[in-house]
Amino acid sequence: MAYKKTSSYVAKPVNDKGYATYTDDENRVWQDLITRQIPIVAGRACDEYMHGIDLLNFPKNRIPQCPDVSSVLQAETGWALEPVPALIPFDQFFNLLANKKFPAATFIRRRDELDYLQEPDIFHEVFGHCPLLTNQAYADFTQTYGKLGLHASPEDRVMLAKLYWFTIEFGLIETHSGLRVYGGGILSSKDETIYCLESPIPQRKPFDALDVLRTPYRIDIKQPIYFVINHFNVLFQLIDMDLIALIQKARRLGMHQPLYPVGEKNV
Ligand SMILES: [Fe+2]
Repeated sequence: MAYKKTSSYVAKPVNDKGYATYTDDENRVWQDLITRQIPIVAGRACDEYMHGIDLLNFPKNRIPQCPDVSSVLQAETGWALEPVPALIPFDQFFNLLANKKFPAATFIRRRDELDYLQEPDIFHEVFGHCPLLTNQAYADFTQTYGKLGLHASPEDRVMLAKLYWFTIEFGLIETHSGLRVYGGGILSSKDETIYCLESPIPQRKPFDALDVLRTPYRIDIKQPIYFVINHFNVLFQLIDMDLIALIQKARRLGMHQPLYPVGEKNV
């Protein structure tokens, strides 16, 4: 997801087979990130995500390559990872999703931004999102989101981005074993994976599409509110809703008061 308008990172070029070359230090950043994060997501991520982790079997000592990840996704849901520059236009973003291609900027964060960065790097895209792209309901919702966005007006795209934000990026799911995480923005973050489940500070509300569309968010803070689905079919059912009509209703009703200090990064 394109969160920012500018980036200090440059994506790695890939060869004609889709492979990028990484330095030893870049591979070590991946190693440090995945070694640290696997024990944190265990018991906190939903079972579908952990199943995807098993299927993808990411290398621990080097950054995974897009074609290798794609071959697993292709077999499970027909998806592929598409190497892209650090930031891409919304048209390209939606077009890729509509065609079952998940955009992944091929750069990895610098060591001084190990814990947090605003740009989605390859750790976020691959570790955060790809495990659930092996799940059909999640994959179908992501594709439909792309198709909707492709034909939406710029104003409606801003509203659609809320749905993406509070599901694909920062969604929680209630399971028979308790509350779990499925949002990739959370699962690629050391602190937020724990915070979203265990802190008394944030609100956790049952997922309601109209409520989500009326909720403002900021990209640069831990989320003050998370929406909880009770099954991945909830995402699947969203596909059949007239989301554009719902967007118009949300606009008529107006936005909720932000639960954070109002600043320039409000969305
Ligand atoms: Fe993302």
